[in-house]
Amino acid sequence: MADADLGRRFRDVMGHFATGIVVATGQHEGKPAGFAAQSFLSLSMEPALVALAPAKTSTSWPKLRASGSFCINILGADQKAICDKFAQTGIEKFSTFGWRPGVTGSPVLDGILAYIDCDLEVEHDAGDHTIAIGRVRDLAMLDSTSRPLVFYRGGYGQFKGL
Ligand SMILES: Cc1cc2nc3c(=O)[nH]c(=O)nc-3n(C[C@H](O)[C@H](O)[C@H](O)COP(=O)(O)O)c2cc1C
Repeated sequence: MADADLGRRFRDVMGHFATGIVVATGQHEGKPAGFAAQSFLSLSMEPALVALAPAKTSTSWPKLRASGSFCINILGADQKAICDKFAQTGIEKFSTFGWRPGVTGSPVLDGILAYIDCDLEVEHDAGDHTIAIGRVRDLAMLDSTSRPLVFYRGGYGQFKGL
């Protein structure tokens, strides 16, 4: 298969895997930083570990890495505007959204479904991304009645179950 064809099929096929959307946040030199991501997973129960895959092009991830911690904010269905803002690069992202610092100092955004606040345990190289493994310091459900923001085949939707 030609490389270009593989790239297109890779995107198309992977798009059939529905995910939630998170915003990974941190504080660097007193300023909040963060970016939208779908590549997030629960990794280990004992110890409690999660994994996030930052692109090597991310300008926010090096700030989170330098701080040694990051917080995963799970977005609700009504928070697409937050996703849109945090999917942009090189702009100020926090001024229009409320937040408070979690135990690691990383921002916990207002109105999210849940958060997982972590220390960066280790980071592995993975092609044009890395795999950042976080050791959970604190986590909480903040809203279990709202629906999650779901990403599927390049578009946003809402979970209809429960
Ligand atoms: C639905 C969606 C999923 C995304 N998933 C990831 C991801 O898993 N990892 C990643 O590094 N970037 C992901 N991105 C892209 C980043 O949000 C985007 O490149 C952003 O501009 C990075 O900002 P930064 O330069 O401030 O780090 C995703 C974007 C969208 C819209």
